[in-house]
Amino acid sequence: MDYKNLYEPHLQAIYGLIGQPVAHSLSPILHNTAFQSLDVPIGYKLIPLDADELEDFFEYLHQDDCPIFGVNVTVPYKEAVLPFLDSLAPLADKVQAVNTIKVDSQRRLVGYNTDAPGFLAHLEELKFQVADKNIAVLGAGGSSRALMTALCLINPGPKKIQIYNRTSEKVDHLIRDLSEKVDTRIVEPVLDVDSLDIEYTDLLINTTSLGLHPDDPLLVDEFRLHSDLLVYDLIYNPAETLLLRCAREQGARVANGLGMLYYQGVLAFEHWADQSLSDEIKQKMKEALFKQAQHEL
Ligand code: ATR
Repeated sequence: MDYKNLYEPHLQAIYGLIGQPVAHSLSPILHNTAFQSLDVPIGYKLIPLDADELEDFFEYLHQDDCPIFGVNVTVPYKEAVLPFLDSLAPLADKVQAVNTIKVDSQRRLVGYNTDAPGFLAHLEELKFQVADKNIAVLGAGGSSRALMTALCLINPGPKKIQIYNRTSEKVDHLIRDLSEKVDTRIVEPVLDVDSLDIEYTDLLINTTSLGLHPDDPLLVDEFRLHSDLLVYDLIYNPAETLLLRCAREQGARVANGLGMLYYQGVLAFEHWADQSLSDEIKQKMKEALFKQAQHEL
C-alpha cells in the first residue's frame, strides 16, 4: 500500500483504518458522515497494510509532514501496534489492545481501546444492566479480551462471568493476563460448552467467528436458549447468525455487533476531535452506518 499517496490537496487532514483486509469495512461511512456533517475538509480512508509494512507506516506517522492525524486499527493488528505507540490510555493498557490511535500536536502516538466501552454503550442502549447478572462468554480471542476487561471493570459488576473456548488453554491464558490488570474473581472458566449454566444466564455473548459462514454449527444447543436471555453476537455480517435466529425463535432478545461498531466509532471520533459529538451528528452517523450495512451486507 502506498500510503504516502493518500494526500489530496483539498483535504486538510486524513484519518483511516489500518488492517488486513479492510476492503469491506463500514468505518469510512461512519467517519466520513461525521466529517461532512461538521463541514470540515477531512477524509477517512482505508489503509490496507501487510505486517511487514507496519514499522515503516508508524515511522511515517511520526513525521511532521504526514497528513494522517489518527487511525483505527482492525484485525490482525490490534495487539501488534502496541510497541509502536508512545503511550496508552488507561483502558487500552488494561486490555492490551488498541483500536484507535491519535496523533497529538507533537506527533506522539496515543493508543485507545474504544471496543470495550463501545460494547458497554450498546448494552446501555439495549437497557441491559450488568450489575448482579450472570453472563456467559463464548470465545477467548482478541474481542473476548476487550469485552471481558470491560465487564470486569464495571462497578457494581456482574455476579458471574462464565467463559468457554474451544481451546481451553486460551481461557486460562486470558484469565491470567486479565488478572494482572483487573479483578477476575467473578470469572469462571468452563471446560465444555454444556457446563455453561445457560438456564441461569442473563446475557450470552458470542465472540467467536462461528456464525460468519452459513454452514457453521451452533455451539450452544438451541433448546437451552430461553426467553430471559439477551443473546449478543459480535458478528454483524450476516445480520442474523444461526445463534441469533435460534435465540429469537426461543423467545430471547437478540442483538448483533453493529451497535458496538457504531459506538466504538463515535468514541474514536471523539478522541480525535477532543470533544463530544452532538446528538444530531451521532444520529446521522448511525443512520448512514445502518443504511450502508443493509445495502452491502
Ligand atoms: P477476534 O479478534 O475476532 O476475537 P480471534 O482472536 O482470532 O478473533 O478469536 C477467534 C475466536 O473464535 C477464538 O475464541 C476461537 O477459538 P480457538 O481459540 O479455539 O481458536 C474461536 N473459533 C474460531 N473458529 C471456531 C470454531 N470452528 N469452533 C469454535 N470456536 C472457534
